[in-house]
Amino acid sequence: MKEKILITGATGTIGKSLVKQLQALNANFVAGSRDINKAKSILNISKDAWVKFDFTDKHTFERATENVDRVFVLGPPLTLNLEQVLIPFIDFLKHKGINRIVYLSAFGNENLGGNMAFHNIVESYLKESQLDFTILQPSFFAQNFKNYEYENLMERGITFNVAGNGKVGFVDSEDIAKVAAKVLTEEGHSGKTYQLTGPELLSYHDAANLLSEVLNKEIVYPNPTEEAYRGALRAGGAPDFIADYMIPVYGMIKNGTVGRLTNHVEEVLGEKPTDLKTVLNRDFV
Ligand SMILES: NC(=O)c1ccc[n+]([C@@H]2O[C@H](COP(=O)([O-])OP(=O)(O)OC[C@H]3O[C@@H](n4cnc5c(N)ncnc54)[C@H](OP(=O)(O)O)[C@@H]3O)[C@@H](O)[C@H]2O)c1
Repeated sequence: MKEKILITGATGTIGKSLVKQLQALNANFVAGSRDINKAKSILNISKDAWVKFDFTDKHTFERATENVDRVFVLGPPLTLNLEQVLIPFIDFLKHKGINRIVYLSAFGNENLGGNMAFHNIVESYLKESQLDFTILQPSFFAQNFKNYEYENLMERGITFNVAGNGKVGFVDSEDIAKVAAKVLTEEGHSGKTYQLTGPELLSYHDAANLLSEVLNKEIVYPNPTEEAYRGALRAGGAPDFIADYMIPVYGMIKNGTVGRLTNHVEEVLGEKPTDLKTVLNRDFV
């Protein structure tokens, strides 16, 4: 009998791709969602493959982990102090004797402090708990342009972030999911941390040029100050915590923290990572 995998965050950007990868490998898995009816419309898998799961509802833990041997832990984005949401579930897994955990963290996270230090706190917790972990630290997703900036691009002709003139190796979420599927189904990845980047370092000015080509319209990166960025989010009706979250995250590009490439995608997959232009062409066709 194949080891059974629980995928948390299964309806999200990484999770959806991971489910497809695991299906292709004919793996034994269940996909977690807070709302199974909604989930069924997002991803077409057999209804038995869905299980109700909510990090903030302990009553969902037992059923979601029935006969489960391995867990992909992905915390929701835009959550300050995310460790407070995730650690009760990690404790539950440990007490139940489910030791194999693949954790979706973030490249450069060790440079974030205060209520943004959550990935680093969870990574340390996994290591100190003597769990059989693998940590994935992806760089900025190439899919952020489609997921978070669609209106900016289509209606305003801008990509709007506080990344300064820094560079980053945008990574394809499908490559991240392929790596996750491998480390969840193969042996030999225990105790490892994989830093997942794309194949090229690009600034937001470079990304704007690529977007202009792919969308066949002029896209500009205005390179706003933090004050202008905060003001624009507020004017658009976003609550202040979004800027509190985004400014330090994009600060990692601005200050060069994530301005390097690794070969870890190729090391695990045996193939080169996908470049940004290919992802944009796929996303915006
Ligand atoms: N975007 C980037 O550039 C980037 C880079 C590096 C790392 N990351 C990390 O990637 C993660 C986000 O991944 P993503 O973009 O794939 O997420 P996403 O597309 O926003 O999806 C979030 C997922 O979280 C689930 N979820 C939300 N609240 C939940 C709860 N209380 N309990 C259980 N599940 C819950 C949602 O499922 P349901 O609604 O179905 O329950 C959904 O599947 C974050 O941890 C972020 O730090 C992002």
